[in-house]
Amino acid sequence: MSNYAIILAAGKGTRMKSDLPKVLHKVAGISMLEHVFRAVSEINPSKIDTIVGHKAELVEQVLAGQSDFALQSEQLGTGHAVMMAEPALAGLEGHTLVIAGDTPLITGESLKNLVNFHVSHKNVATILTAQADNPFGYGRVIRNADGEVTKIVEQKDANDFEKQIKEINTGTYLFENKRLFEALKEINTDNAQGEYYLTDVISIFRQAGEKVGAYLLRDFEESLGVNDRIALATAEGVMRKRINEKHMVNGVTFVNPEAAYIDIDVAIGAEAVIEANVVLKGKTSIGERTVLTNGSRVVDSQIAADVVISNSDVEESIIEAGVTVGPYAHVRPGSLLKKKAHIGNFVEVKSSIVGENTKAGHLTYLGNAEVGKDVNFGAGTILANYDGKNKFTTTIGDNVFIGSNSTVIAPLTIGDRALTAAGSVITKDVESDAIAIGRARQENKNGYAIHFNHHPNKK
Ligand code: UD1
Ligand code: CA
Repeated sequence: MSNYAIILAAGKGTRMKSDLPKVLHKVAGISMLEHVFRAVSEINPSKIDTIVGHKAELVEQVLAGQSDFALQSEQLGTGHAVMMAEPALAGLEGHTLVIAGDTPLITGESLKNLVNFHVSHKNVATILTAQADNPFGYGRVIRNADGEVTKIVEQKDANDFEKQIKEINTGTYLFENKRLFEALKEINTDNAQGEYYLTDVISIFRQAGEKVGAYLLRDFEESLGVNDRIALATAEGVMRKRINEKHMVNGVTFVNPEAAYIDIDVAIGAEAVIEANVVLKGKTSIGERTVLTNGSRVVDSQIAADVVISNSDVEESIIEAGVTVGPYAHVRPGSLLKKKAHIGNFVEVKSSIVGENTKAGHLTYLGNAEVGKDVNFGAGTILANYDGKNKFTTTIGDNVFIGSNSTVIAPLTIGDRALTAAGSVITKDVESDAIAIGRARQENKNGYAIHFNHHPNKK
């Protein structure tokens, strides 16, 4: 039998105090909405309809091409939101999952269990519930003396007895599709918030003598609904633990998993070592046995095997096997560090290719450069790539030796095996095998030092 899904994502999320719609706030690098969408995808619905409203275009961008959308132009409540899916779904045979876009921790596994439970119990509606130590703020699941679910009562509508109940509505449900849209015609706004509550369909089904059930999550953690930034940080913490445990199971060492911040789509090879305060973001991959020491941050980069990155930043770059970076280096977007290259302390590389086995050990800037293999950059080398308006390329061959404190003014080419004298300002191309000296000649004035005030023999 077919499954459909409705994701509720029209709300503003007032308690977030944010310009960004609530469901677009990120947890471990992707929006809460994408987390929910990924979990929903695991039950393979034949249609997914996402209800959008507040800043609809922004929300649609995130799932463009993956979901249908229905607009709820005024946010009159979760029941009203589901009504917006009527043109797409009403009258279809099958079951419909309804899930809130602000519950990023619910897993596909739990949704599959919910579907199986719902189908095998032949329910018209099944609520995904959990036991909360502190149920404040959630809708409570009310059961009769026989333990059957009779209704859901919202926090703001609950009486003192109901407030004591710890079984909460996670905001996820499975419904017999046709009956869902029929029941929604009967809900009203007669409640503390003056909203159309989706939860009211439960008592409507019960009164019609239909079978309603609840599937209890084993783990409350999954059910977290994010309404404010405190809950957002809680969700981040839970997700971080899940992600890091997955990597540890796969053979990655974490010195302190609580202090390693790894986005959900990051890949890490076995035997890699992640020290404290490492941040890995976006579409990053880390090769086997690579070591990231404390404080390293890698964004949208491919790092190969056997690399060591010490307390450094790498962004949108590719680093090949055996490279060493840092400490305190900055590899900026568009860089390619080839095998066994070394980028040392206080070195910045930007939009540059650094050849195999090439070394820039200290205090150097490489920008818009194409550098061959086995090149040595002396301390304090600057490739001057910018004239205030345009950026220019420096091309350096293989086995070149750049003397310390050279300033190389692009555009310019230095041939294979050439050498620049320390302290040179290089303004012209240098042929292969040449030595370029671009500095003033030193002149010594013997005996003159005595005229200086600091000289011990000065009168
Ligand atoms: C809802 C449930 C509550 C449950 C909780 C779980 C209702 C009436 N209450 O309460 O029982 O315990 O979720 O987290 O359903 N939305 C719309 N359009 C609207 C209103 C909301 O699309 O008009 C969306 C929001 O963007 C959000 C989701 O629905 O993603 C839930 O809305 P929210 O206002 O957070 O509901 P809760 O008060 O948390
Ligand atoms: Ca909520």
